[in-house]
Amino acid sequence: MLTITDNNALREQLIEWHQVGETVALVPTMGNLHKGHMSLCQLASANADRVVVSVFVNPTQFGEGEDFGAYPRTPEKDARQLSRAGIDILYAPKAEDIYPLGVENSTRVFVPVLSDALCGEHRTKHFEGVTSVVMRLLNIVSPNVAVFGEKDFQQFVILQRMAEELHLHTRILSAPTLRDDAGLAISSRNQYLTAAETLSAPLLYATLRDARDKLLDGESIAKVESAAIKTLTNTGFSADYFSVRRSSDLSVPKKVAGKLIILVAAELGKARLIDNLQFET
Ligand code: PAJ
Repeated sequence: MLTITDNNALREQLIEWHQVGETVALVPTMGNLHKGHMSLCQLASANADRVVVSVFVNPTQFGEGEDFGAYPRTPEKDARQLSRAGIDILYAPKAEDIYPLGVENSTRVFVPVLSDALCGEHRTKHFEGVTSVVMRLLNIVSPNVAVFGEKDFQQFVILQRMAEELHLHTRILSAPTLRDDAGLAISSRNQYLTAAETLSAPLLYATLRDARDKLLDGESIAKVESAAIKTLTNTGFSADYFSVRRSSDLSVPKKVAGKLIILVAAELGKARLIDNLQFET
């Protein structure tokens, strides 16, 4: 595996692959890699000849008072995992290469409406930061496919919309959420949980499953949503939202019909956890 920090060196390697007709997949990450990230790498390998994994803790997607400084950075461990998985390039750019004019003066990409809902209501500018960095990574690498996790379903829908609307040539793929044995979606932020919180964290997914079952049994969306928030509050979570949406565009459904998704964001101690569950009637 090559570890590349320099954009010119990356370009040279990409041109070489392009000349021999090899296809490229990109897996954008913020590092501190876990099994969830590695499952994205597997899907990437299955869909292209070469795989580039980017590791960049993107400052523009963290709000003031969020965990940009504290975000876990484990570069050596990440490199070992990626190398073992047969990844071709670990691309770890410096902030100056991604935002040469500095964060404040940089060009932004913004997908309206979708970026303001759900997590966007609670993390203003977060998705603008995500689209602004992913647009750059897609332009730098020009991959045939890029892979994102359904764990961050709103992010995936926004990026898919951006790619479609801006006529990008990259195919956007999604990979299912990887969970631990208790059902908790694996996330770098799970490290912020205390031992006691780790025991109650799987309740988030249990609440999603329970809500789905009730909706399929005919209970109303409003009733199911408020009962779930009550359950979470009673177990020590502070819920930002618990919301039933259409999975195609995250719009609010009038009734329980078609392809739906339940999305939740809730704080547990120092960790803000998100999860979701897709289902169909
Ligand atoms: P990060 O949180 O590092 O996640 C990188 C990718 O891994 C995302 O597409 C995310 O959805 C996926 N992922 C994380 N946990 C997962 C799990 N348990 N199962 C499956 N996939 C999982 O998301 C970001 O970074 C950033 O916003 C980024 C897209 C890199 C832009 O900076």
